[in-house]
Amino acid sequence: MLAAAGIRRPNRALANPNGDPSPSPLLLGVDYYPDQTPEALWDEDARMMAEFGFTNVRIAEFAWALMEPVEGKFDFSWLGRAVQTLHKYNIAVILGTPSAAPPPWLTAKYPEIVEVNAQGAPLHPGGRRFTCPTNKTYRRLSLAIAGQMARTFADAPEVIGWQIDNELTLSSSPRCYCNYCQAGFQEWLRSKYGSLDNLNRTWGTVFWSQTYTDFSQVPVPLPSGGDPNPSLALDYNRYQSYANTSYLEEQLAVLRKTCPRHFVTTNNVGLPLDLIDLRSLYEKLDFVAFDNYPGFFEMLLHEQSKSSPVSWDYIYTATALGHDFARSLHGKPFMIMEQQSGKAGQRTFSPQPNKGQLRLWTYQTIAHGAMGVNYFRWDTATFGAEEYWHGILNHDRSKSPGFDEIKQTVKELKALGAEVLNASYPAETALVFDYDSDWALQIQPGHSGLSYTSQITSWYGAIASIRSGIDVIAPGADLASYKIVFAPVVYVLSEAQAAKVRSFVQSGGVFISNFRLGAKNEFSQMARTPLPGPLRDVMGVTIEDYVPIDSAKQSVKFSSALAGADGECGIWADVLQPTTAEVLGSYTSGAHAGRVAITVNSFGKGRAVYIGADLDPASLTRVLRSFSVLAGVKPLLDVPSGVEVTVRRSDRKQWIFLLNHTEAAQTVNIPGPHTDLLTGESRTGSVSLGAYGVRVLQAS
Ligand code: GAL
Repeated sequence: MLAAAGIRRPNRALANPNGDPSPSPLLLGVDYYPDQTPEALWDEDARMMAEFGFTNVRIAEFAWALMEPVEGKFDFSWLGRAVQTLHKYNIAVILGTPSAAPPPWLTAKYPEIVEVNAQGAPLHPGGRRFTCPTNKTYRRLSLAIAGQMARTFADAPEVIGWQIDNELTLSSSPRCYCNYCQAGFQEWLRSKYGSLDNLNRTWGTVFWSQTYTDFSQVPVPLPSGGDPNPSLALDYNRYQSYANTSYLEEQLAVLRKTCPRHFVTTNNVGLPLDLIDLRSLYEKLDFVAFDNYPGFFEMLLHEQSKSSPVSWDYIYTATALGHDFARSLHGKPFMIMEQQSGKAGQRTFSPQPNKGQLRLWTYQTIAHGAMGVNYFRWDTATFGAEEYWHGILNHDRSKSPGFDEIKQTVKELKALGAEVLNASYPAETALVFDYDSDWALQIQPGHSGLSYTSQITSWYGAIASIRSGIDVIAPGADLASYKIVFAPVVYVLSEAQAAKVRSFVQSGGVFISNFRLGAKNEFSQMARTPLPGPLRDVMGVTIEDYVPIDSAKQSVKFSSALAGADGECGIWADVLQPTTAEVLGSYTSGAHAGRVAITVNSFGKGRAVYIGADLDPASLTRVLRSFSVLAGVKPLLDVPSGVEVTVRRSDRKQWIFLLNHTEAAQTVNIPGPHTDLLTGESRTGSVSLGAYGVRVLQAS
C-alpha cells in the first residue's frame, strides 16, 4: 500500500511474520508512551493493543530526558526493550525524535536556546516547544539525539518509520524573535536580495528613514513605536517557515542517510489554524501526517468566542478543509498521526464525543483521503500537563467510553483494506490557499474583522455544499486539471501567479475571486496599476474604490442571471467599474448605492468572476454554486444538509462515503444498486444513515 502511494517502502518489519514481503499492514495504530508507563505494564499494553487490532504505535517523541540523561550520554536500552515488547505482539513502531521537549539539563546549560515571543519576552523551560528554530546549539543537540536514535534503531526490525519533532511552531508563540533568529533572518535576506540596495528598494525603506547601510541593522518585527515595514514583516513570516523547515530537514538528512528503509514524516495541525508554511515543511517528507481533534477544536472555539456553542456544521466543515489541505500538500493519501479518542483538553476539556462521533470523525479523515490513523493516546496520563487528554484506557486502565467504538472502527477499516485506504480522491474544483495573502492580511487586515483563514473557511463551506471533490492548492499550482478555481482575498499576487490564472481562464476555466484581488505584489508593495492589478483584463473590471465597512450596512441586489433575495454585504465592499465584464450585482444603499458589486467577464474560452462585496454565507453559497454548475461541476450525490459525501477511486472501482454529522436520521438517494462495505447490505434507491452514521458504498 505504501509503495503504491509513492511512499518509501518500509523495512522488512512490515512484512508478515513468515517473511513474505507483501502485503504491507495498514497504519492503524495508537500513540503510546512507554516512557510514562511502568515497565511491568508494557507487555499487557502490547497484548491489549494487538487484541484491539492496532498494527503500529508512535512512541518516544517527548522522551529526550530518558534517552540522553546527561549531555552526550545516551541510553536507549529502555526504548529498545519497549520496541521489542511491542514486536512480540507484531506491533510496528514509528519513532518520534524528541526535540520538541528539551530536558532541564539542556536548558540549564544552554539557556539561550529558548524562543522569544512577539512581545520580545523569552519563553521559559517547563512546558514544551519553547525553543528557537535558528539557534545552532539547539540544532546541534537535536541532531545529536536524532542521529543516535537513528543509528540505534536503523536495523531494528520493529521500526518502520519516523516522526521528526512534534507540531513545529504550535505553541503559545508560533514565531521566535530572538537574536539568533534576527541574525538568521539577516543572512536569509542577504541571500534573497543579494544587495542592500535591492532590499532597501524592494521594501521601500526610505519610508520613516529606515534605509539600512548594513545587513546587521535589519530588525525583526518586535514592538516598536509604529508598525513595522509590511515587506519586512511578510519576509519575517517566510524566514520563520524557512528556519523551521531547515531545522526539520537537518534531522531528515540524518534519518535518510542512516535509515534508508524507513519512512519519515512529521505531524502538525492543518487549516484553518495558521502556523508556518506547511507546504515547505512537508515538501521532502514521505507523506503528510496531521493531528485531528474535532471535539477539542469545538471547545476551543466556544471558549474563545465566550458565547453560544459553535455549530457542528462549522466544525466538521473546517475539519474537512484541514483534511483536503493535508491531502493536497502531496496530492496523495495522508496519515492522521493523532486522532481524538475521547474527552480532550488540558486545563479544561471537551466532553466525551456523542456515540458514533469518534467513528464518524475517523471515517471523515478516510473519506477525504487518509490512508492511516493513529489514535491519541493508548492510556490516559495520570501525571503531567495532559492528564485530561483522554485515551483509549481510562486513568485506572479500564475501558474508556470510546474503547469499543474505536475498536469496531479499526476492525472495519482493516476489512475495507489497502485498496480503499490508498485510493485517490478526484477533484474538479480547487480552492487556493495562499500563505503570503494570509500573512500580509494579518499584518494589515484593512478591517479588524477581516481574516484570511475565516474567509477561506467560509468559502470552503460554500463550495463544500456543491458536493464535489475539492483540492486546496497553492497559488502557483498547475490549474489545468480543474474546471473551476476559487481564490478568495488574493491580497498578494505575483505576475507569475497572475499568468497562471490568465492561461487557465483563456483555455476555458472558471476563476472566481473577490475583494482585494492583486492589491499587493509578492514584495508586499501596493500595485502601481489600477486594481485588480495584473488581472485587470482577465476580470474585465477596474476597482474604483475599496471600502472597509464598520457600521453602515450595505445590501447587494443581484441581476437576473443570479436571481435571488438581496444579499448582505458584511465588512468589505470593492466598488467595481466594469470594462468588458457583465454586471451581476449592485450595492443598494449608502454612499455606493447603484454601483457595481459583482461581475463576470468572458475571457478567452473561460470566465472570470469578481465578487466585490463580502457576501453573507447564503448569498455567497448561491453565487459560488451557480458558477460551479456553469463550469460543469456535477454534485457527486444530492445529500441533505449535515451529511457529507465524498468519493475515492482506484483504477477500476469507486467508493462513495456518506457521513451524517447530525444526530437525526437521514436518507440519501443513490443511483443504482450499491453494497455497503461496512454492513455487507445491498441497497438500491436510497440508504438511511442513523445518528452520526457512516456508509461506504460500492457499486454492485
Ligand atoms: C497534540 C500533540 C500531542 C498532545 C496532544 C494532546 O497537539 O501533538 O503531543 O499534546 O495534542 O494535547
